Amino acid sequence: MKIELLLEPLVLITHTLPEDWIASLRGKVRAVAGPENATQLAPELADLLGEAEGLFCLLTIPVREELLERMPKLRVVSNMAAGVDNVDVAACTARGIPVGNTPGVLTDATADLTMTLLLAAARRLPESAQDARAGRWKTWSPTGWLGADLRGATLGIIGMGKIGRAVAERARGFGLRLVYTDTASCPDVEAALGATFLSLDELIRQSDFVSLHCPLTSETRGLINETVLREMKPTAILVNAARGPILDTTALTRALAEGWIAAAALDVTDPEPLPPNHPLYSLPNCLIVPHIGSATRGTRKRMAEMACENLLAGLEGRRLPYCVNPQVYQAK
Ligand code: DGY
Repeated sequence: MKIELLLEPLVLITHTLPEDWIASLRGKVRAVAGPENATQLAPELADLLGEAEGLFCLLTIPVREELLERMPKLRVVSNMAAGVDNVDVAACTARGIPVGNTPGVLTDATADLTMTLLLAAARRLPESAQDARAGRWKTWSPTGWLGADLRGATLGIIGMGKIGRAVAERARGFGLRLVYTDTASCPDVEAALGATFLSLDELIRQSDFVSLHCPLTSETRGLINETVLREMKPTAILVNAARGPILDTTALTRALAEGWIAAAALDVTDPEPLPPNHPLYSLPNCLIVPHIGSATRGTRKRMAEMACENLLAGLEGRRLPYCVNPQVYQAK
């Protein structure tokens, strides 16, 4: 589908978005958009790569060297996501191209979903709802569908950035004891939230719930692997609302099937999406939702608006308001 807004500069929007989300582009760019549910760069956009000066993309589109090579006129990459692991930021920086993201605005929505996943897994919502629907709810059963207690249990947060902190704030309200790990301790968080800094090993050993909130980097890819999963408590519940590849999918499947841990709740997977016949879908102790952490009406609209702000700034030669590689400005 094509959205013709104005002539010059040409901007490729990898997915069609609601008009009112990208209204600020009207009259300022000539935009061509790919289909709403594109899983890769649409052919009609691929034909225009050589002319495009701006790229507005979602996290499902890899922006790597091969693509950049085909975009000689590119002046800005605007990713409508907080995470930028789909973008080769170093390659963009080397070409002097600023990369924008949408930090902060999705913190609450993602933290809310994290708690939703944690609670749903703790109280076995998917299984019990399915049993009710299927007629297996015969009576009030004193031992049926027993779940985990939250008050006094320990939540281990891996990655104490904005979202990790927002999860910690919410978790305090449920009476959870908080421990966390990150590249360094955060004294302000310890003071404000009463969270204790631990090594990853110690956090894994102590936690009843483990929630992942670190970015996907070469250091965090596969961080939660077989060794780590085997160290967790057999009653532990693992939540991932960060990025799929932080967690080893094969090891997780065995961990859930063989009872190394009690349950997992995933907003993200590796690969993403998982093929419909993937064994994780058949495990009653695994809850999977389709990467909906930021999927509230207000959040997604604001993400698109921020991505437009970045895009326009880049095209107009201004500093991006939300820039992940500010080094491009030092080099100039
Ligand atoms: C992001 O912005 O990185 C999120 O994963 C989108 O929900």
